[in-house]
Amino acid sequence: MGAALRYAVMRSTATLATLLVAAILALTLGTAGAGEPAWLPKPARGRGDKCVADTAWMRRNHMTALSHQRDGTVHDGIRTSRFSLKECIDCHAVKGADGKPVTVASEKHFCRTCHDYAAVQIDCFECHASRPEAKAATTGEAAPERSSGTDAAMLAQYLRSLKQ
Ligand code: HEC
Ligand code: HEC
Ligand code: HEC
Repeated sequence: MGAALRYAVMRSTATLATLLVAAILALTLGTAGAGEPAWLPKPARGRGDKCVADTAWMRRNHMTALSHQRDGTVHDGIRTSRFSLKECIDCHAVKGADGKPVTVASEKHFCRTCHDYAAVQIDCFECHASRPEAKAATTGEAAPERSSGTDAAMLAQYLRSLKQ
């Protein structure tokens, strides 16, 4: 009797293990079989034939490059243009249905293609224009996040910095 019970327990444990292995296998094969390009973000191509640095490097390091640039400009008054945010926006403008460059409010915006996917939030466009400014100006529209957001955002940033 004891042996039969032990056998039954062993059997169900084995079945469980088999099921688990099968489930893991199905998961692994499932994602591989689906083919990764389907869910990887595909940012629109920038203007010209190359970026301001090697493309693969940019994918990995643009955040650091931009924040060093930002610290240099805002804190030390140093201004080099290699990693200018304004220029990222100029070359990476994406046109909407109306033929005008979209702002960051649109999910087609270059910076959002990856960030939405990776759940990255950036506050840059509270102060910086998210589409080329000259283009917005020729259509007689001010870039909204520039005209209405700048002072309020800077004040908010200042108040936040006091709390730290
Ligand atoms: C509170 C307002 C504010 C926020 C938020 C902000 N910036 Fe700036 N940024 C400024 C100001 C002011 C300057 C200096 C004036 C200028 O050059 O436009 C500047 C300059 C820069 C510059 C150098 C000028 C240029 O166009 O390249 C870069 C790069 C930059 N910021 C990147 C960023 C990035 C990246 C973020 C988000 C992580 C960000 N900034 C968020 C206010 C802000
Ligand atoms: C002179 C135009 C130009 C400027 C300025 C520019 N880029 Fe680019 N960028 C491009 C082009 C063109 C490509 C695609 C290059 C390729 O296919 O190898 C690209 C590619 C990229 C990629 C990779 C996109 C992908 O498909 O994975 C990122 C990220 C990127 N740029 C970010 C930036 C940032 C951030 C800035 C500002 C610091 C910037 N770029 C400034 C033209 C530009
Ligand atoms: C090829 C995909 C891709 C594109 C296009 C892209 N980013 Fe990013 N970005 C990322 C990823 C992924 C992260 C998060 C990296 C991490 O957390 O290590 C990130 C992070 C950042 C950060 C740091 C956020 C934080 O708080 O840590 C900034 C700033 C940033 N990106 C700016 C930009 C700007 C500005 C643009 C458009 C000019 C842009 N990115 C376009 C993929 C991209």
